[in-house]
Amino acid sequence: MKIDIIGAGSLGLLLAGRLIQTGNDVRLWCRGVEQCQRLGRDGLTVTYEDEREPITISEDQFVSAPIGEFAGAYLEEPSDWIVVTVKQNTLHNDLPEFLSLLKEEQVHMICFQNGTGHMEMLGGMLPNANLYVAVTTEAAKRKSLTEVIHAGAGEVWIGKWSLGDGQAHSIHNDLKANNLIEVLIMAGFAAFLSNEVDTMIYRKLLINAVINPLTAIWRIPNGELLSSEQRLQLMKEVFEEAIMVYDFCEITYDKDAWDNILQVCRLTSGNISSMLADVLASRTTEIRWINGSLVEMAERSGVSAPLNRWLCQLVEGIGV
Ligand code: PAF
Repeated sequence: MKIDIIGAGSLGLLLAGRLIQTGNDVRLWCRGVEQCQRLGRDGLTVTYEDEREPITISEDQFVSAPIGEFAGAYLEEPSDWIVVTVKQNTLHNDLPEFLSLLKEEQVHMICFQNGTGHMEMLGGMLPNANLYVAVTTEAAKRKSLTEVIHAGAGEVWIGKWSLGDGQAHSIHNDLKANNLIEVLIMAGFAAFLSNEVDTMIYRKLLINAVINPLTAIWRIPNGELLSSEQRLQLMKEVFEEAIMVYDFCEITYDKDAWDNILQVCRLTSGNISSMLADVLASRTTEIRWINGSLVEMAERSGVSAPLNRWLCQLVEGIGV
C-alpha cells in the first residue's frame, strides 16, 4: 500500500517504521528540515522498552521530505492513504496552506489527533475528501529525530467522518478502510473499525482534559496525579465540570468514566503526558483543542466552564 504520513513525531515515526518494515511504500513528511535530512541520512529506528528486537529501517526504504512539498508530490503521484499525525496546532496553522491544493481530490485521509475541532476544519477545506478519524491508545516517545520508543501497546480504532451531520457513519462495508485495517494489523497494531468513533473521541477528550493540563502544570508523570488527596480533588472537579458540559451538549459518556481516568493514570503511571512533553520541549500544547473545546462546547450551550477556561489560560501562559 502507498501511504503518506504527515508528521514525524512519535506516532508518525512508529507508524512509518512498522508500515515500512511490513512492505508498504511510505513517504514521511516532516515539519523540520533537519529531521528530513537526518531521516534521509540515517533511516529510522523503532525500539521497545522490553527485550524485543528494534526495527531498523534504512534511508533507501522510504522517502522523507518537508511537509511543504507534500501536496505537489501527492498530485503527481497519489497515495492510497494520507495519515495525519501532526499535533492540532500544526494541523490548524501550517497544513491548510498546502492541503487546500487538494480540494478537488477524493483523497482518503485519516487523522490521529487528540481533542476536537480539526475534522470540521478539514471537512470544510476538502469537500471531496473521504475523511476518517483514528482514536489510539498506543504510547510512543520520540527519543531523537530518527528514533522512537514504543512505550506501550494500545489499540487503534478507525471510523468514518461525515461533515453533513458531524457524525461517524457505518464503516464495516468500506473496502478501503478494511484494507487499511489489514495493513495495520500486519504491521503489528491492534486495529479495528468502529461505527462509534465519535463516542471514542469524546471518551478520549475527557481523559485528556483531566490528565494532560494537570500533569503539564505540576510537571509530574501521569501516575503521580493519584499520589495525594489534593491532586485527586482537583482532577475530580475538572472531570465534573467536563461531565456537566457533556450533559448540556447531550454527549453520552460511560458510567464508569471517572474510574476509567484513574485506571489510565495507573496503566500509564510512569509516562509523561503528551502535554507535559510539549511544555518540556517548549512546544505549543494542544490545550486549545482539548480543554478549550470543552469551554467552547459549554459556551455554545449557554453555560460556562470556568475551571477548564482557567486551565487553558494557565497552560497557555507557561513559557510565555
Ligand atoms: O495525551 C496523552 O499523553 C495520552 O492521551 C494520555 C492518555 C493522557 C496518557 O499520557
